[in-house]
Amino acid sequence: MAQLEQSATSGSEWWRSAVIYQIYPRSFADASGDGIGDLPGITSRLDDLKSLGIDAIWLSPFMTSPQKDAGYDVADYRDVDPLFGTLADFDAMLQAAHARGIRVIVDLVPNHSSDQHVWFQQALKAAPGSPERARYIFRDGRGENGELPPNNWESVFGGSMWERVTEADGTPGQWYLHIFDVSQPDFDWTNEEVREEFRSILRFWLDRGVDGFRVDVAHGLIKAEGLPDYTPDASADSMGGGEEDVPYWGQDGVHDIYRDWHRVLAEYDGDRALCGEAWLPTLQRTALWVRPDEMHQTFNFPYMMTAWDADALRDVIRESLDEFGRVGAPSTWVLSNHDVIRHASRLALTADSPQGDGIGPRSAGKPDPVIGLSRGRAATTLMLALPGSAYLYQGEELGLPEAMEIPDEFRQDPTWFRSNGERYGRDGCRVPLPWTASGTAFGFNDTGASWLPQPAEWARFARDAEETQPDSTLNLYRALLTERRARKLGTGTLVWEDTDASAVAFRRGDLHVIANLSDAPIELGEDVTFVIRSEPFTGTALPANTAAWFTRA
Ligand code: NOJ
Repeated sequence: MAQLEQSATSGSEWWRSAVIYQIYPRSFADASGDGIGDLPGITSRLDDLKSLGIDAIWLSPFMTSPQKDAGYDVADYRDVDPLFGTLADFDAMLQAAHARGIRVIVDLVPNHSSDQHVWFQQALKAAPGSPERARYIFRDGRGENGELPPNNWESVFGGSMWERVTEADGTPGQWYLHIFDVSQPDFDWTNEEVREEFRSILRFWLDRGVDGFRVDVAHGLIKAEGLPDYTPDASADSMGGGEEDVPYWGQDGVHDIYRDWHRVLAEYDGDRALCGEAWLPTLQRTALWVRPDEMHQTFNFPYMMTAWDADALRDVIRESLDEFGRVGAPSTWVLSNHDVIRHASRLALTADSPQGDGIGPRSAGKPDPVIGLSRGRAATTLMLALPGSAYLYQGEELGLPEAMEIPDEFRQDPTWFRSNGERYGRDGCRVPLPWTASGTAFGFNDTGASWLPQPAEWARFARDAEETQPDSTLNLYRALLTERRARKLGTGTLVWEDTDASAVAFRRGDLHVIANLSDAPIELGEDVTFVIRSEPFTGTALPANTAAWFTRA
């Protein structure tokens, strides 16, 4: 392979090179002891995050919500749900994070609200054609008596994307659109009142001092004119579509909304940032979200969904740096989040789809835990050497696998319910964290309650157990983050290196980085001095499923 230089775009804003740690509040740390994590729990663990070496935290939603989709169904965008604490707890957490030099990003859910939101409750009571209904997407049904949904769209969580309401006089009435659960009605973003409301919500959190927003379903806000029928083809993925145009994903009109928000953030000091959750089929389209006057970052899902394959990984890294670089944005990198199988399990899946529908007790072909953890550690070792900004998901620094044996009766993901148990969904990556090997609920709280059951074998992944093991995943992450910071790897140039076909290798200055994706060792030569190895090994041959940072004499 010819050597080819690629740069992360320069610029001094913090988000261009930051390592951002995702906190899923209900599973992070539980100060109240009710089995659901909370804001005071986060505050109590900020020193642990500081010592890990991250730059910022992103909090999944903690706003008022009936929790039908774990908080991604917001009933009041300007308050904290009592499950997680109060606005004062939020302010205290923010201040404590800032005092430690940790920036804070909050999750904003603009595509839909909860059906308990006051606007939706007003819409249900109001008449068809009223201003109250115009904030959401209400339509008359098809068929003689409007008994059929307005079109054939299928919800991401399964079933129709439409729900029929009963009008105030008791008769069957209009239908409303919900891309996700029936309890998550979509806003109508062609309505200026909706736009103004969200500008005001942005300002509410910016005034409190947040450093930015992760924007949920950023590619879904605008629907194609006339809401035409659409049947996904075989290439389609439920969150992003496939080859062809999807009438509810990535419509052009969505970009005006982010240009508008960009201007709102620019009114504030301190480089506030927007990061889009936009699942689009190609990197070329993903990069449209981060043109200079739009969002600052967007998640690199094509990278996250790349299987453990050297050619595919080289291609996606090269294309990411090219496509984001073309619009002057840094690439982001991510391997895990609260919607996908944890990468310490996913990377050992043998099925064609690296994500699938979750893994549960009856799933066939469960991933091998030893291979999964090795690949997971190697993948992170490679990722944290890349220029740009990287996202980590809570628990990956412990090497947590997917929880694959959650009994049916504990499941909470709406995917599970709307598919009648055919799709396990995402509970397996959302289980509360183990902090101590021997404490109640592994130190998640001091009562032993846990909203999802923690696997008994997680004692060995507990943070306190890993603290004392030099080769633990926790100490690997710490070493990677320390070295990444010292060598300023978040910015600068990457030079590809000629290597074995089943490896990915590049140079960052005098630092060589290589991951071995084959089944056999790769000899690196006598002159290497290792800086970091993803697994302990002796000699100079890099074992299978291992990565290393090294210099040459
Ligand atoms: C994406 C979020 O990450 C996911 O957890 C949620 O279910 C959907 N958006 C709907 O808000």
